[in-house]
Amino acid sequence: MPLVDLDRFDFLYARRVKGMRSSAVRDLMDVSSRPGIISLAGGFPDTSIFGAEAFREISSAIAADSAKALQYGPTGGLEKIKDIIVDVMSAEGTSARQENIFVTTGAQQGLDLLGKTFLDEGDAILCEGPTYVGALNAFASYRPRVIHVPMDRSGMIPSAAREALVRARKSGVYVKFIYTVPNFQNPAGVTLAAERRRELLEIAREFDLVIVEDNPYGMLRFEGDSLPTLASMEQEEPGEADRVVYLGTFSKIFAPGVRLGWVHAQPGILHKINVGKQGADLCSSNLSQMLISTYFQNADWRGYVKRLNVIYKERRDAMLDALAEFMPKEVHWTHPAGGLFVWATLPAYLDATAMLPRAVAKNVAYVPGEGFFADGSGKNCMRLNFSFLTPERTRRGIELLSEVIRDRMELRGDLERGSQRSPRKAPSKNR
Ligand SMILES: Cc1ncc(COP(=O)(O)O)c(C=O)c1O
Repeated sequence: MPLVDLDRFDFLYARRVKGMRSSAVRDLMDVSSRPGIISLAGGFPDTSIFGAEAFREISSAIAADSAKALQYGPTGGLEKIKDIIVDVMSAEGTSARQENIFVTTGAQQGLDLLGKTFLDEGDAILCEGPTYVGALNAFASYRPRVIHVPMDRSGMIPSAAREALVRARKSGVYVKFIYTVPNFQNPAGVTLAAERRRELLEIAREFDLVIVEDNPYGMLRFEGDSLPTLASMEQEEPGEADRVVYLGTFSKIFAPGVRLGWVHAQPGILHKINVGKQGADLCSSNLSQMLISTYFQNADWRGYVKRLNVIYKERRDAMLDALAEFMPKEVHWTHPAGGLFVWATLPAYLDATAMLPRAVAKNVAYVPGEGFFADGSGKNCMRLNFSFLTPERTRRGIELLSEVIRDRMELRGDLERGSQRSPRKAPSKNR
């Protein structure tokens, strides 16, 4: 069979696809779903916790209104689901208004529609470094410059954000928005401190920018008090210009399979997003919206989220304990108080991307850190997911992973010792 020329139509492709990369996470799903592999790679909530019986109940409840469930719906979402979203947002202390809510096909679509709305080629966005790879991918097709702002254990560093904005302004780069995942960030697991949220709002005001607050994990808190959303903080400021665009999702508090999220923003922005969505998919699924509203209206969804948090906490503890027990002391990691991820940093000379095939050969997978940066940094880092596997599997996965890392570190030590024994002036015969 002749070889297929994969780039046969390269000359016809739009410029925008040149910046588009396949997500390392999505690519990895193929590898990590192979039998026998302990995958710390996915970003999966554990949907088995919901249970077939609960699912059957809500499905049969909406069967009575099948014609509506199977129909097209309004682009911005059904009224009923917006009431539910108001409720969910108020559970996190944000008083949302129905008319400021726009339903999307996952928060992921919200990211894409925001890119469509705000970004011209060459515009810039400011985001955490590392940041959510799906956001980088969504924005990439609009060809922005991505400016990463460093983080520490309290999230994005506001002074660094301000410096980056001053630099951008001086060099004529037009920054459109700050993108942040404030709670238990994907991938780093860190949370933006309350006073930094305030500072970021001030910075956005000073430079007249929008803030995109992407908050899928806020309610997956295992310990400590929840922090106010940037959207709610802005509401407390009199005369503020509604510059926070809030993205929410049912993926982590209910199920990602329903593909349902939302944007909460001021009407001007929502109008643009509405036009963008009409061209993308007309509307999100009525079926999903009805499943969710039936469940959230009639069942104890808060109790369900509490149950998830008990289970995920146990799994997080298993991961942190295993890391402490097995990892070499040169490896460091974050201690998330919620969410799904731990971020591990290896010695700078190790390349987590190059190491992945060795890890897979040992039956463990993770996501290399590089994909979470637009500028090629993060090579010695990795994202580890703890929400999907049992504590026992996670422990075994970390044990295997630490063997791979130790092996690489020892190899490096051997090479260094070898080069010290054979000084440069006398090259070995094998060269
Ligand atoms: C930070 C962040 N934003 C958005 C999304 C997309 O979520 P959704 O399933 O609602 O599209 C994810 C998914 O993992 C995420 O981690």
